[in-house]
Parts: sequence; C-alpha cells; structure tokens
Amino acid sequence: MIRFFGHILTSLGSKVLVALSGLGLAGFVVFHMLGNLQVFQGPEALNTYAAFLRDMPILLWTARLGLLGMVSLHIGLAIRLALHNRRARPVGYAVREYRQASLSSRTMAVTGSLLLLFIVFHLLHLTAGWVDDSFPDRLDLRGHRDVFGKVVHAFQNPLFVLIYLAGQAALGLHLSHALSSSLQTLGVEHPILDRLFKGAGPLVALLVVVGNVAIVLAVAIGMVRA
Ligand code: HEM
Repeated sequence: MIRFFGHILTSLGSKVLVALSGLGLAGFVVFHMLGNLQVFQGPEALNTYAAFLRDMPILLWTARLGLLGMVSLHIGLAIRLALHNRRARPVGYAVREYRQASLSSRTMAVTGSLLLLFIVFHLLHLTAGWVDDSFPDRLDLRGHRDVFGKVVHAFQNPLFVLIYLAGQAALGLHLSHALSSSLQTLGVEHPILDRLFKGAGPLVALLVVVGNVAIVLAVAIGMVRA
C-alpha cells in the first residue's frame, strides 16, 4: 500500500493517473454528447432518456461520484506536475521553441481552466437551474422532467449560445491534445499506432465539438423548437 502511494507521488505515477482520469472523462464527454443528440428526435426521446438515467439513483450517484473523483484527481495531479516541472526548470527556455508544439499542446493549462469554468457554469445552469430561473423544472405530458424544454429555452438566448460555443472551443482544444498524449503516456508506442493515436485525438475532439455545437446552433436558428 505504502509502495503504491509512493509510486503515485512520483512524476511518472502522476502522469499515468492524469492520463487514465483524462481518458475516463473523455469517455463521459462522448457518451454525454451522444445522449444529448436525442434532442433532434424531439422531447419524448430526450426526456425519456434523461428520466431513464435519473431513475437509477445508485448508478447515477456512482457515476457522479466517479466523475467528481476523476475531475479532482485529474486537476490536482496536473497542477502538481506543472509545478514540479516549473521547479525543475526555474529559468525557463531562452528561446521558446514552438514550432514542434501544436496550439492545443501549448495551451493545455489555459484550455483546462476555461473548461473547468464552463463545467461549473453548465452545472449551475442546466442541472441546478441557478443561473436562469425563468424556466422552472416542469414535467412533460408523460410525467418526465422536461429536459428538452430546458435545453431549447437555454439556447434561444444568444448569451448562453455564446458561452456554450466558447466552452466547446476550450473543450475541443483540450481534448484534441489530451487524448493523443494520454495514449503516449500509457506507453502505447509503435510507429503505426503512434500515428493512429496522434490522429485519433483531434478526430474524437472534432466529433464531440461538432455534435455539441450542432445542438446549440440547431436550437438557436429555430431548427429544433419546443
Ligand atoms: C452543448 C453541449 C451540452 C449540452 C446541450 C448539455 C446538456 C446537459 C443537460 C440537459 C444536462 C442536465 C440533464 C438533466 O437534468 O437530467 C447536463 C448535465 C451535465 N452535463 Fe452537459 N451538456 C453539454 C455539454 C457538456 C460538457 C462539454 C460537459 C463536460 C465537459 C458536460 C457535463 C455535464 C455534467 C457533469 C452534467 C451533470 C450530470 C448529472 O450528474 O446529472 N456537459 N448537460
């Protein structure tokens, strides 16, 4: 046990845990986007899906606590690694060599922080309903919570559209680099696999962002309406 925690405290152990928790969170984001796409099938589909998730409290709370644990571990260890790296190189590089590093890899701390801000806002907005109380929780004709109505109401407001689009930009940049580098950290190194994983990160990020942006814009332009 002591050896296990000793390993976590090493830089390599921390990197592996940041990678594993990041992959878990990316899995949630993909799953969440696919579920939310049911907005295109209308209120019945989305509300039944949301009710299905809420009707299993043990599963719901296990998933919520799991997500919270992964987010805390991911952020805590990522900050610790960044501080450790800074301490190891207090002077910094004389010439910053950016040619090899992509935009997303250079901005991981910034996009990660913006993403965290977005998630907190998103939970206060659509889950807790504290940001906008002009759409109180109500039931649809089948007695399910009207999650569809809440989403449509949200993206009819241009301010929320802008905030969600900005959140997607942060998500896309963060995910694009994170997925590829997580697989590298986990030691999946082979010339062909390496090229595959380098492409997989941006591709998955693009699919998630396109799916989420489609939901926001479809409501904003009136293609999906209550
Ligand atoms: C346009 C994009 C998105 C839409 C339309 C959306 C929609 C929603 C809705 C409607 C809920 C509340 C569900 C309910 O009350 O039953 C929700 C909850 C949630 N969303 Fe999103 N979401 C989006 C993007 C994201 C992103 C990018 C993340 C994370 C990076 C995220 C994380 C969460 C979490 C953690 C919850 C709480 C789940 C729970 O415990 O009930 N969402 N989302």
